[in-house]
Amino acid sequence: MMKIINSIKELKACLAKNRLDKQQIGFVPTMGALHQGHISLVDRCVKENDICVVSVFVNPTQFNDKKDLDTYPRTLEADCALLEAAGCDYVFAPDAAEMYPEPDTREFDFGTISSVMEGAHRPGHFNGVAQIVSKLFDATEPDRAYFGEKDFQQVAVIRAMTEQLQMPVQIVACPIMREADGLAMSSRNVRLTANQRQKAPLIAHTLKESSKFAAEKSVKEVIDYVTGTLNADDTMRVEYFEIVDGNTLQRISDWADADYVVGCITVYCGEVRLIDNITYK
Ligand code: PAF
Repeated sequence: MMKIINSIKELKACLAKNRLDKQQIGFVPTMGALHQGHISLVDRCVKENDICVVSVFVNPTQFNDKKDLDTYPRTLEADCALLEAAGCDYVFAPDAAEMYPEPDTREFDFGTISSVMEGAHRPGHFNGVAQIVSKLFDATEPDRAYFGEKDFQQVAVIRAMTEQLQMPVQIVACPIMREADGLAMSSRNVRLTANQRQKAPLIAHTLKESSKFAAEKSVKEVIDYVTGTLNADDTMRVEYFEIVDGNTLQRISDWADADYVVGCITVYCGEVRLIDNITYK
């Protein structure tokens, strides 16, 4: 029977018993509004651990845009039904006072990994992510924690954070889950109008098309193709599209500059900010 827990104290008490029984603890941090992308993380967590903890908390410190925070979908009851069906053991659903009894004034420095792309366009975002994920890791002390690769840069930041804080947790990155038409699953997709929802798969489609001829074109030509194709659609506005070394997240100018190359994109579809990425090699 799945248990819903609101306090850190109760979560720690439950997990202490599991640890005494030598049970491995897996953790999936979320902001709720769960979709199959989240459930794929939960499935993996259930499979690879004895106990699966999922947190549902819309973290205010990682929102640089107040409107985005206010309109972020909140669907705890439906989330719990999905989590119970997926075999989750504990849902940790604290309120803001529980996670931030006092303002968190910590300033993290992950160097260029967190200052490019999302870091450059959403000031303070990754600092807020590091604040909440470090608090959640402290509360849960998981053996493994599961993150989706849609937030490609977030995974790199979390890895850097756990190294910096010497947290003994294994970070498991899981593949992007997509709708049948290719659109990357996201809690923000529900905010798309019917017309925008119809157009949004163009993002994934354009990235995929670009990967077919990338090797014969220059990095710049691929960037121009992707941004040009998407910006030509009147519902889309590319905020950035960068082709980076997948390990350092620094831009490359030539395909030979890195062995692992990823294209990361952020597009406004109407007012909704969508992100996606593709591995070129
Ligand atoms: O990816 C998310 O949903 C959030 O950034 C996370 C990791 C749950 C932290 O609030």
